Parts: sequence; C-alpha cells; structure tokens
Amino acid sequence: MARTALITGASSGIGREIARELSERGFRVILAARRKERLEELADDLDSESRVIVCDLSTREGCIDLYEQVKDENVTVLINNAGFGAIGRFDELPLDTELRMIDTNVTAVHILTKLFLKDFIAADRGYILNVASSAGLMAGGPLMAAYYATKAYVVSLTGSLSEELRSIGANVHISALCPGPVDTEFNDVAGCEFGVSAISAEECAKEGVEGLFRRKLIIIPGKGMKAAASLSKLAPREVVLRTAGEMQKQKLK
Ligand SMILES: NC(=O)c1ccc[n+]([C@@H]2O[C@H](COP(=O)([O-])OP(=O)(O)OC[C@H]3O[C@@H](n4cnc5c(N)ncnc54)[C@H](OP(=O)(O)O)[C@@H]3O)[C@@H](O)[C@H]2O)c1
Repeated sequence: MARTALITGASSGIGREIARELSERGFRVILAARRKERLEELADDLDSESRVIVCDLSTREGCIDLYEQVKDENVTVLINNAGFGAIGRFDELPLDTELRMIDTNVTAVHILTKLFLKDFIAADRGYILNVASSAGLMAGGPLMAAYYATKAYVVSLTGSLSEELRSIGANVHISALCPGPVDTEFNDVAGCEFGVSAISAEECAKEGVEGLFRRKLIIIPGKGMKAAASLSKLAPREVVLRTAGEMQKQKLK
C-alpha cells in the first residue's frame, strides 16, 4: 500500500490544504471530519488515492474508532488538525462548548498521538504534525482563555514527545504548527473576526508540511508572526496578557 497520511479536520481550511499538499507529494490521503460531502468533494478533486472517514473527534469512541479503521493502512504521517475556538468572557461562555473544545483540541490530539506514536516507534518511522496555534506559545489569551489553554497543551505535549523521541534515537518526528491568523472558517465557528491580517490556508499548509519534513519542532508560518512570537517571549507576562486581551477585544463581532 502507498505511503499514507491521515488528516483530521480535512473538510475545511488548513486541514483541507494540508491534504492537498500531501496528495501533491504523492501520499495516499485519509480525510477525516464530520461533514461527509465536503470530504467527498475534496477526495474527487485530488490526484492521489484517498479515503473518506466521517467521524466526530469530540468523543473518545470517535477517536479510537478512527484509529481502528486505519491502523492496518500503512499510515506514516498523522496530521492532528481538527479543532475550533470560541470567543467570550470565561464566566459567560457555555461550559458545554468549552468541554467540547477541550475534547476536540486536546483529548483527541492526545489519544491519536498516543495510538499512532506507539506504532510509529515500533516501525521506526513516521511523522506527526500537531496543529496548535501561536496562541499556544503565549502566556494566555483573555476572552479566548480555554482556546489558548488547549493550544498551550498541544505545544507542551509536542515538545516533550519530541525530546523523548530524540533521546531513544527513534526515526520518528513530531512538530507543532503554530500559525497566527489564517483565513479559514475558524472565525465563523468561533464567533469572531480578526483584528489583524490573515495568511492563506494554502501558505500555512505549505509551510507546515515543509517544516514537518525538515523536522522542525515549532513551525510558525509567515515572517510577521515569527517576529511577533519572538517579541512576546521578551515582554513581561502581564504585558503580554494585557496586549492579548486588547487584541481579542477587537475580534468580538
Ligand atoms: N484559522 C486560524 O486563524 C488558526 C490559527 C491557528 C491555529 N488554527 C487551528 O487550525 C486548525 C484548523 O482550523 P481552521 O482554521 O482550518 O478552521 P476550520 O476551517 O473551521 O476547520 C476546522 C476543521 O476541524 C474539523 N472539526 C471540528 N470539530 C470536529 C470534530 N468534533 N470532529 C472532527 N472534525 C472536527 C472541521 O470539520 P467538520 O466541521 O466537518 O467536522 C474542519 O475540517 C484548528 O485546530 C485551529 O485551532 C487556526
């Protein structure tokens, strides 16, 4: 069976463009998300072989079932991309929305990374790209508190696993993709609009896939965002939080 990549959240935005990029690089792609028609449209559009799997990754069963369906299909690249945000004050956002966000952005990434990483280590090959966010590199994000926290988890987990893999000499690599604003359906789902300009999902996907195969740990697409991320490391935590809060206010529709 051809080299295969599994992409979660392939029905839209960054995931769809990563699927296109990997397909162009000759991978057979497995496209996973909830919206079947969107996935089928994409599959029809791709030149390489593909498979569509409809799944809800906000449930543990959904994640484990996805792994069971593809575990014998020679998956060598896992893209944990499915995720969403929600804007609003912590005391006002519905708990259900936030728990579903934690299930999708954190628990699903954790489960799929664990299941595939075991196989990748056993086979001594494989790549995992966890789509985090520049939000995950920051001290926090007032008005998107839970979202920022989910992405900080993904960045932290990825960094720790990268070092574990290095220390055992495994031929397995893991990266975190940390974009700033990207033009996708993210804002419609999160109920916000960007205060600053966004890069395209194509640009983000291209840099993400290139960075993964170059074995970079943290991939920040776009020059502007790289500079902003470096600056935020130098500023005191309180200043970063206040600035982030002001930026988030501008995103409120
Ligand atoms: N856009 C940005 O500015 C930005 C910046 C940094 C990081 N990110 C991250 O990039 C990733 C992709 O987001 P995007 O910007 O491309 O947004 P998007 O266009 O809204 O795409 C989100 C994808 O996630 C899938 N998804 C959501 N919940 C799911 C669930 N329960 N089960 C399975 N799939 C689910 C959606 O598919 P279905 O609805 O069909 O299930 C969709 O394919 C997210 O992790 C996001 O946090 C985005």
